[in-house]
Amino acid sequence: MPNIVLIGFMGTGKSAIGRVIARALNFKFVDSDQMIEEVTGLTVNQIFRKHGEIRFRSEEDLVLEKLAKGDHLVIATGGGAILNHKSMEALKKNGYFVLLTADPEVILERVSRKNTRPLLAKGRNLENVNNLLAEREESYHYYADATIDTSRQDIEDSARQIIRIVK
Ligand code: S3P
Repeated sequence: MPNIVLIGFMGTGKSAIGRVIARALNFKFVDSDQMIEEVTGLTVNQIFRKHGEIRFRSEEDLVLEKLAKGDHLVIATGGGAILNHKSMEALKKNGYFVLLTADPEVILERVSRKNTRPLLAKGRNLENVNNLLAEREESYHYYADATIDTSRQDIEDSARQIIRIVK
């Protein structure tokens, strides 16, 4: 079975759902944001603040390229990972891409719970969420092999739905 690569906007449940899928399939769960933090010794927020988004994307690209060489992985990518075409293509070679979506209102509610999203730091509001979603919509769908809407189901149900698709 290929790696399972979870893509999608912030707050769609990639990490929480990824952990459940990995446990059920006996795969290893990896979170690319967490790996970037380990490699750089900085938090995602610090990288954005000190070095900017371009630097974050190149760190993200490197981490994802490395993960593309692994197998039996469930990979939760960051919401903007689809902007890194080089590593996305590398992951595609041995990866099944599941796009997680949620209604903008649900996303806003979820991302407002934690203060860890630098791209929304200037304004955690529906307009900013919708603008960023619109910018990325095409790329998300370009890479997706399957799409799951997580707005109205809990983590376990979303995980079950994905497992049914990939098995
Ligand atoms: C980002 C999403 C974040 C993180 C960084 C940038 C984005 O990941 O990678 O803050 O560009 O959408 P999550 O989707 O896990 O919040």
